[in-house]
Amino acid sequence: MNAVKQPIKFVHKLCDWYRANRRDLPFRENPDPYRILVSELMLQQTQMDTVIPYYMRFIEQFPNVASLAAASPESVLKAWEGLGYYRRARYLHQTAQTIMHKHNGVFPKTVSALKQLPGIGNYTAGAIASIAFNLPVPAVDGNVIRVMSRVLAEDCDFSQRKNVQQLEVLLEQLIQHDRPSDFTQALMELGALVCQKKPRCERCPVNAHCLAYANNEMMRYPHMPAKAQKTKLSYYVFLIGNSEQGYVFQKRPEDGLLAGLLQLPQYAGPFQTACKLLEEDLGISIVKTESLFLVHHVFTHIIWDMQVIHTIITDDASLTLHTLDNLPGTLSKAHRKILERLEK
Ligand code: ADE
Repeated sequence: MNAVKQPIKFVHKLCDWYRANRRDLPFRENPDPYRILVSELMLQQTQMDTVIPYYMRFIEQFPNVASLAAASPESVLKAWEGLGYYRRARYLHQTAQTIMHKHNGVFPKTVSALKQLPGIGNYTAGAIASIAFNLPVPAVDGNVIRVMSRVLAEDCDFSQRKNVQQLEVLLEQLIQHDRPSDFTQALMELGALVCQKKPRCERCPVNAHCLAYANNEMMRYPHMPAKAQKTKLSYYVFLIGNSEQGYVFQKRPEDGLLAGLLQLPQYAGPFQTACKLLEEDLGISIVKTESLFLVHHVFTHIIWDMQVIHTIITDDASLTLHTLDNLPGTLSKAHRKILERLEK
C-alpha cells in the first residue's frame, strides 16, 4: 500500500477542517459510548437524514444501557420499525443486556472486549473506541475506504478483509497525530461532505496530499470488482380480509431473514402448492382467488418478487384480523409496501 504524503500535515489539516466544518449531529453532542453505539449501528445501512429522527426517538425512549437492557424485544423492534435490517436492533438489545449482566453496566473500554459484544465487529468497535473513548483505533467504513483509496491511489479490492487490515495499520499510525475522536469522524465527514462518489476536490482540505487528485483519476477509486448477482425468489402473498377490519398476518420463524417479524401469509410456488400450504397452516378453505399486482423488494443479497393474491375463504371466525395500527408485532418492510400500495 502507498504511504500518505507528509502524513502529519495531512492529519492536522484534516482534523482542523473537521473541527471548523463538522455538522451538528445529535450524537455529537455527548460522546457517551452508548449513544455512539446506537448511532453507528443505525448508520451502518441507513442514510443520515433517515437516521436522525429515529436516533432522537430511540435515545428518548431508551436513554441508557440499563433502560435498553430492561426493555422487551418487541418494544425495541417497534422503535426500529422502518429502519430495516432488524438484526441490528436485536444485536443492540443483546449488547445492552450483556453489558448489564457481564460488565456490571459499564461499557468495556478495549477493542478486544468491545468485539466480544453481539453484533460489534471491527468497524463498530473502532468507532466506539476512538469516538467515545478517544483511543487511537481506526474505524474503516465505506466513507473511509472511498477517501483513503483516493488519497493513496490504491486499486486493491477493499471487500477483502486483508486489504482493510492493511489500511487499518496505516490509519493506526496516522491517528496518533491528533485527537483520535476527531480523526475518525473527520475521515467519515470528509467522505460524506466532500470526497463523495462524485468528489468536490476544489474544496478538499487535503487535496495537496491526494494521489488520485494529482493524477486526475478520482473516479477510478474505490475500485469495485463486480458484485455477485442477487438471488431472485418468487412468492405468492395472500391478502385475506379488508382494509377496514384488517388482514390475516403470520409470524416469520425466529431465525434467518427477517426473524420473528410479521408478514402477510407468504409461500413459494407453484400456485397450487402455495394455496394448499396456506389452507393447512391457517386451517381454512379457499373459495376464490384474484391476482392483484406484483411487488418487488430488494435486500442485500436477495430480491423478492411477491405476487399479491386477494383471497376469499369460507367464513372462518377463528381467524384474527389486524390493521396496521393494531399489529401484534413488527411488520416486515417488504409487506408494509404491499399494504401501502393497497391504500393508494
Ligand atoms: N457515518 C457513520 N458514522 C458516522 C459518523 N460518526 N459521522 C458521520 N458519518 C457517519
